[in-house]
Amino acid sequence: MSEWAIIVHGGAKDIPPGQEQAHRDGCLAALRAGQAILEGGGSALAAVEAATRALEDDPTFNAGYGAVVNAKGEVELDAAIMDGKTLAVGGVAAVTTLRHPVSVAAAMLPERPVLLVGDGAEAFARDHGGEFCAPSDLLVERVGDPGCDTVGCVALDRYGDIAAATSTGGLSGSHPGRVGDSPLPGCGLYADNAVGGVSLSGEGESLIRTTLAARLMRALEALPPGKAIDAALTYLARVGGEAGLIVIDTHGRLDWGHNSARFAVAHASAGQPAQAFVNRAEDARKDPS
Ligand code: GLY
Repeated sequence: MSEWAIIVHGGAKDIPPGQEQAHRDGCLAALRAGQAILEGGGSALAAVEAATRALEDDPTFNAGYGAVVNAKGEVELDAAIMDGKTLAVGGVAAVTTLRHPVSVAAAMLPERPVLLVGDGAEAFARDHGGEFCAPSDLLVERVGDPGCDTVGCVALDRYGDIAAATSTGGLSGSHPGRVGDSPLPGCGLYADNAVGGVSLSGEGESLIRTTLAARLMRALEALPPGKAIDAALTYLARVGGEAGLIVIDTHGRLDWGHNSARFAVAHASAGQPAQAFVNRAEDARKDPS
């Protein structure tokens, strides 16, 4: 079993050749933020929050600063975090003024609600030290279709605890108030120390209709990560849609896969250096079955 492991993703989407390095660099920077915490003896929860905050800060990715806009030209953000030790979940959805939605989701972990939306989520953030900004502060100028989709992270710490996180601006041009898979446990993420942790990216409606994170977790109970990912992607074909999936299992084995054109990922574990990719075929990692 690996002493610690971490994997981050920057979204299942097409990535133009000129933007590949920015995606690798952004994923590596986020990975290092989480890796430093794990190497210092910190928790998986702290690591996934730190890595996801870094991705929310990077306008290369559709989360936090740099999120895509809905049909009204407005940013609406969703995020969640899950603790595999306690099965606690915090999620926020359709928020417009939170600089780091994943940190507000993390502040919800000890609280009773699992998901808060809109004004209610922002009121919670005000009472729990959330960082606010003007909605316009989240926008960046873009030429052409930015592509879209979620960022996320899964980590295993040296205490055997697993955590997962997601953050997204949703799908470009979607209906105001639309919420995707990212803040929904069992759809966009899940973590359970007994099985592993997963964070997904893709077309939220398809991931919700297939409860794809739950299916991936179920597959992980019997299969190594690579084969569990293949099984989940096969099931997704029932409704169609693009997705990318990252996994760390309870033994510290990590893997990733996608049916989208590209999927930016970085990973590291004890004894394995940090590496970043934009396509699973680039990664020499073999399924550790
Ligand atoms: N996967 C992000 C979304 O559909 O909102």
